Amino acid sequence: MLKLGVNIDHVATLRQARYRGMERGEPDPIAAALLCEQVGAHGITAHLREDRRHIIDRDMVALRKAIRTRLNFEMANAPEIVDIALAIRPDIVCLVPEKREEISTEGGLDVVGHEAALWETIRRMKDAGIEVSLFVDPDPIQVEASARVGAQFIELHTGAYAEVFHQKSERNRELERLVSASERAHQVGLRVNAGHGLNRENLPLLHVVPHLEELNIGHSIISRAVFIGLENAVREILQAMEGYGGGTPPRSTP
Ligand code: PXP
Repeated sequence: MLKLGVNIDHVATLRQARYRGMERGEPDPIAAALLCEQVGAHGITAHLREDRRHIIDRDMVALRKAIRTRLNFEMANAPEIVDIALAIRPDIVCLVPEKREEISTEGGLDVVGHEAALWETIRRMKDAGIEVSLFVDPDPIQVEASARVGAQFIELHTGAYAEVFHQKSERNRELERLVSASERAHQVGLRVNAGHGLNRENLPLLHVVPHLEELNIGHSIISRAVFIGLENAVREILQAMEGYGGGTPPRSTP
């Protein structure tokens, strides 16, 4: 079954807009995470950025204590954040680029350009019993490098697909790239997640991508929650994910 990790960063974005630097504030991302779990989310994702623009340190500590599903700690490969992750012990970390020089041509992590540094962080995480995922473009070169540095998972960057979703030929080209990157990842022993820019509209076609285990979705769920509430927004996305057949498109797909 395809699993859903809800990214709760933007609940914290809203809180920080009013309560930055204060000891408490609303909306509370931990309460949001618990609601997501109650209606069927399989995991919670939060990104502790170096500039702390949304999730802050106390959120990660509280999430680790409160949630009952898996905690996916999104982070840059930066020494301060690595130490925090090792102390918090999430189930999995997803290494993402935050600085321009860490970004590959299209926006995923430039694994090829940082193999030694990634290898070292991945080793430390694995020694602590934390799984590691690398957020990469659907590019075979980056996928193969992810296996070389010892990651167990990649998260395929679906941003380019989401961006061209309304232009049919470009969208199909992006889908093909996702399909072949996922196949390559599977061949080299990596497990495959995906995320960025996914929503109810573009999810059904993504069912053609094989080997997917989990989707990480944030912005569209939190946006939709403004109108229909968080529980319903999570339910809607879970519905759009239903019937994933490991690469076989659902019957309703055009
Ligand atoms: N996966 C990763 C690695 C991300 O950085 C993000 C964005 O924070 C997401 C998934 C979720 O993207 P979106 O908010 O567009 O659903």
